[in-house]
Amino acid sequence: MFITFEGIEGTGKSTQIELLKAHLETQGRRVLVTLEPGGSRIGAELRRVLLSLENRDLCARAELFLYLADRAQHVAQVVRPALEAGQVVLCDRFVDSTVAYQAYGRGLDADMLHGLNSLAVDGLWPDLTILLDLEAEVGLTRAVARNQAEGKTVAEGRFEAESLAFHDRVRQGYKAWAARFPQRIRSVDASGTPEGIAAAVRRLVDPLLAETRLNA
Ligand code: TMP
Repeated sequence: MFITFEGIEGTGKSTQIELLKAHLETQGRRVLVTLEPGGSRIGAELRRVLLSLENRDLCARAELFLYLADRAQHVAQVVRPALEAGQVVLCDRFVDSTVAYQAYGRGLDADMLHGLNSLAVDGLWPDLTILLDLEAEVGLTRAVARNQAEGKTVAEGRFEAESLAFHDRVRQGYKAWAARFPQRIRSVDASGTPEGIAAAVRRLVDPLLAETRLNA
């Protein structure tokens, strides 16, 4: 089972992934938590290039291909082997981030990026995508505060430095894309408490997992 988490900055994706991981482990499942960009060894190098504030001059098309390269490597080396070994894979960002950020955020064509995503994932699409939805202003304020607290403003701050208008376009893009794939992408209101959000996430995941055998 392959579950991805999406949303703008500061929606609490990593907190929710950890809460879901703990929940699934109590059911006896083996869980791999991973992320994009940076989920493979080579991807970690690409992540540094992609997120450093020093690379503000990275052009939109080059940025796109680096995300796709990160994805292709991550699928081949990490995600597919884990799924084949019977693990549940929880991934922080995947294909829909490229559509939301590089298409709706940067202005590239969404359908073209959907085609490039298929090339990168080589048939491996998520079984379920949880979209944590939050107002851009709230998410961005949280993300900037987190980066400052962790001293990551320069190393990881390229997107947090984008305007509020950019992040709002990304949010609206996610919503539009979720409406296009309503079976796979399920939106959860991320403005509540972490425990309330986690309960909403479990209501989406548990029925899906109940259909699959406990094979971990
Ligand atoms: P994060 O892992 O801290 O969320 O940061 C990853 C950043 O990269 C985030 O701002 C969104 C951006 N991103 C894209 O623009 N396109 C992509 O395909 C992915 C995976 C991430």
